[in-house]
Amino acid sequence: MLIDINLPHSKYEITIDTLPNLTFDRKVLIVTNPKVGGFHLKYLLQKINAKEIYIVTLPDGENYKNMQNLEFLLDRCFDHRLDRKSLLIALGGGVIGDMTGFASSIYQRGVDFIQIPTTLLSQVDASVGGKTGVNNKFGKNLIGAFHQPKAVYIDTYFLRTLPLREFVSGIAEVIKMAVVFDSEFFKWLEINDLSEDKNLEYAIKRSIELKANVVSQDEKEAGVRASLNYGHTFCHVIENFTNYSTYLHGEAVAIGIIMANELAHSLGFLSDDEKQKIFNLIKKYNLPTYYKVENIDKFYETFFLDKKSSNSKIKFILPNSIGSYIISDDVNVDDIKKVLEKFTDIYIEND
Ligand code: NAD
Ligand code: GLY
Repeated sequence: MLIDINLPHSKYEITIDTLPNLTFDRKVLIVTNPKVGGFHLKYLLQKINAKEIYIVTLPDGENYKNMQNLEFLLDRCFDHRLDRKSLLIALGGGVIGDMTGFASSIYQRGVDFIQIPTTLLSQVDASVGGKTGVNNKFGKNLIGAFHQPKAVYIDTYFLRTLPLREFVSGIAEVIKMAVVFDSEFFKWLEINDLSEDKNLEYAIKRSIELKANVVSQDEKEAGVRASLNYGHTFCHVIENFTNYSTYLHGEAVAIGIIMANELAHSLGFLSDDEKQKIFNLIKKYNLPTYYKVENIDKFYETFFLDKKSSNSKIKFILPNSIGSYIISDDVNVDDIKKVLEKFTDIYIEND
């Protein structure tokens, strides 16, 4: 199955299928980490035919998504005398994908790269759309570039080795797409089970179609692409407070969605019934739904560290029903703090 992505200066295909045999008349450098490489490098190498193939293994984890490892990767590109026609291939989750993409955007002013995502989160979101980058001491993904891949190959075979918690974390991004763009998909997620292969493939396909549609309209996030940050305004504060170590990204997104919904509900956009339906879907996949806010003022101030907040305004993506949303950057501070107040209690499981 193929999904096209059409942008003003590039277009590419996203293939959702068994990884095909790939032949390249140029040098190829595969970037992976020890865990993913240990499971899947052999499989990938069996499928690739190229002039020369090199492999770079970066350390595993968000903590290593930084300038130091980017430089390490670029040094290996020079060691192997990659030229401007060479190709980088990212084999891994969002961390490897973002770093490989960024390296390929700046190596000799830009070379091609291909995404072979191996987590659900990177299959439904991170591998598509060309956001690349690394973290620094000031925050996540603050150094980077828009650089579109030449192709994305999504093979659910890779997910067989993915820990359940990582898999579930990816489902949060699927739910995000459904709530923001597609009420039918949301209903489908309510009644179907993503542990079945055919359902999983459908959910991946639909998520990518939705993302591809948004990115095609707004490659560089001048407008509508911001909708993909639904739940992320709160999520980034939670991740910051918990040092990116308590929650996986999708888990923090799930909580962020619940908090954004409370805000949307309190402002009269989202009905009780729909707020509850989204909560139930998040619960269905055993994603977390609550974060205890210890200090409302501190939580509020931390919104401003987000790179999406500009001119001292916080941008919220607020569903006004399932399948549609508004983007608001003028929510009153008191309204925001009233919502945060609701998260200062002890958590009640079946709220
Ligand atoms: P990740 O890349 O850290 O992968 C999660 C863990 O799963 C890692 O330990 C990894 O080694 C392991 N793993 C990966 N594939 C595996 C497999 N098939 N079997 C077993 N283990 C496997 O995290 P992620 O959730 O994939 O991505 C998160 C990153 O993606 C963040 O850095 C985030 O900023 C970025 N992101 C980018 C975009 C974008 O548009 N570029 C969108 C969303 C997230
Ligand atoms: N993951 C958000 C985006 O690609 O814009």
